[in-house]
Amino acid sequence: MCGIVGYIGEKNSVPILINGLKRLEYRGYDSAGLGILTNSHSVVIKNKGKVSLLEERVEKSNLSGKVGIGHTRWATHGVPNETNAHPHYNSSKNLFVIHNGIIENFRTLKKGLEKLGYEFQTETDSEVLPHLIDSFLKKGYPLFKAVRLALTEVEGTYGIAVIYENEPDKIVAARKGSPLVIGLGDNENFVASDVSAILAHTKQVIYLEDGELVEVYKDKFIVKTISDAEIEKEVHEISMTLDEIDKGGFSHFMLKEIMEQPETINNSMRGRILYDKGTAILGGLTDVLGRLVNSKRIIITACGTSWHAGLVGEYMFEQFCRIPTEVEYASEFRYRNPIINQDDAILFISQSGETADTLAALREAKLKGALVLGICNVVGSSIARETMAGVYTHAGPEIGVASTKAFTSQLVVLSLITLLVARRKNMSQAEGISIAEELMALPDKINKILKLNDQIEQIASEFKDANNFLYLGRGYNFPVALEGALKLKEISYIHAEGYPAAEMKHGPIALIDENMPVVFIAPKDSTYDKIISNIEEVKARGGRIIAIATDNDNGIDELVDYTIKVPSTIKMLMPILTVIPLQLLAYQIAVKKGLNVDQPRNLAKSVTVE
Ligand code: F6R
Repeated sequence: MCGIVGYIGEKNSVPILINGLKRLEYRGYDSAGLGILTNSHSVVIKNKGKVSLLEERVEKSNLSGKVGIGHTRWATHGVPNETNAHPHYNSSKNLFVIHNGIIENFRTLKKGLEKLGYEFQTETDSEVLPHLIDSFLKKGYPLFKAVRLALTEVEGTYGIAVIYENEPDKIVAARKGSPLVIGLGDNENFVASDVSAILAHTKQVIYLEDGELVEVYKDKFIVKTISDAEIEKEVHEISMTLDEIDKGGFSHFMLKEIMEQPETINNSMRGRILYDKGTAILGGLTDVLGRLVNSKRIIITACGTSWHAGLVGEYMFEQFCRIPTEVEYASEFRYRNPIINQDDAILFISQSGETADTLAALREAKLKGALVLGICNVVGSSIARETMAGVYTHAGPEIGVASTKAFTSQLVVLSLITLLVARRKNMSQAEGISIAEELMALPDKINKILKLNDQIEQIASEFKDANNFLYLGRGYNFPVALEGALKLKEISYIHAEGYPAAEMKHGPIALIDENMPVVFIAPKDSTYDKIISNIEEVKARGGRIIAIATDNDNGIDELVDYTIKVPSTIKMLMPILTVIPLQLLAYQIAVKKGLNVDQPRNLAKSVTVE
């Protein structure tokens, strides 16, 4: 989704901003722009399309300046075009604003400003900001105060960065519901919506909280609340490295991230398994463990792939912890006035830690007094900071828009929580040890599955022109069916549905004919015989079948058209293995269709608007 980067210092800001915008491309965007304060005047260059196009234009213009802001836009109000791209500016074209988020009362604000004579050029909600700030500048306020007063009139969400020709020694930035970090350098400072944009220059950052504004100079910064109270901020050191956010020789981030999974799974487990005791240690949960173990109900809340991880978590928590568990879409949970009790534990799962619906659901749950926990990947993200306790997945930066390694790491963390809580309840040490053993064996098993990439590529060639796919699984592998279907539709634009296999005969079976590929997730477990019956039903109707089976299954090959064999593990961990061939299948199909795998159309990595 939209990205922000800003620079103030002694260097030419232009290449720094262009490189920062390139680092933000993975978030998904449709247009890009720069606003630069030069020695003589200010310049805005923006265009629909890629940052590379912006770079070409900037190079031709020889633009240079020591203060600047850059933006990648993901359209919410107004089509993606040059006019609607950011920065937006006031009529004198000396004040420039970039904005992430949505100004909900922009129509009211716009009407008021039009009455004052302000003319609007764009269809965006964001354009009210430069005019509104301008109206306070005209009353004689300095920039920082003008921005603060303007924001008191704004409803909605924002991360903004503002520069002003008449006060060229500062960038003013503010945050409400859309992340912003300030990067601290040596006689230079940065503003960004995501640390990856500034990681090449600094590892020292401060995180802005909702309702905070910052005045950033090249050698200092001042943070205030929107009600004008000055606040001290803690400086954080980022542990992420630049290598982690590069492609590392792979043709796509998505492939790199799929291939990294043996290592990322290890990182999610490292130091957290107490093998001899058959349990786990999760430092982030220590203070709340008693409350979690005694909770009467767990509600897992998330969106998209993280929601699928939550569904697997539900099976784990109910089977081993014997705590009733529900899984909710965050977008539904936040608005339907859910019944939340003091003895509920509500677990929010989010790779980015910035998903707007998940964050809003979290705030609602907190207000109602529940124990609010998080599983996040991005360290220091809003959800990580606002939950009472939680566990990081440590999967490293996930750049490909389609989530892969974050999902398997979420499943590992859910398994560790299960182990920790269940051992406090009824699980025996022996059972705990056997789960720990299986967890520790996962990286080697994933390595074996990744070697099937060539076989999966051949299957992808067979099916790349299909218009529809059905994914079927049972028990722990039903969420995997949903996740496999989501991966395929996200990056290959092929319509795909995931179902519990037994539901097929209640409707989807009507779709089955020789043009309908059906992917069965069919490991040898207690549901195996049932799923074989479902396979027979599809076969009888001429459907083409791809089965994800376990490598101890010799009988399945003659029933289906293609088999992808994965190693076996215990039922609760099987999704961590069965999902990997589905990630590869979606990837290979999208590549064969010549699509932009890492930045699929219309999608954003971090969905920071509703
Ligand atoms: C799918 C995908 C999305 C995200 C969803 C939630 O590949 O990436 O469905 O899973 O937008 O995002 P997070 O986990 O960041 O809250």
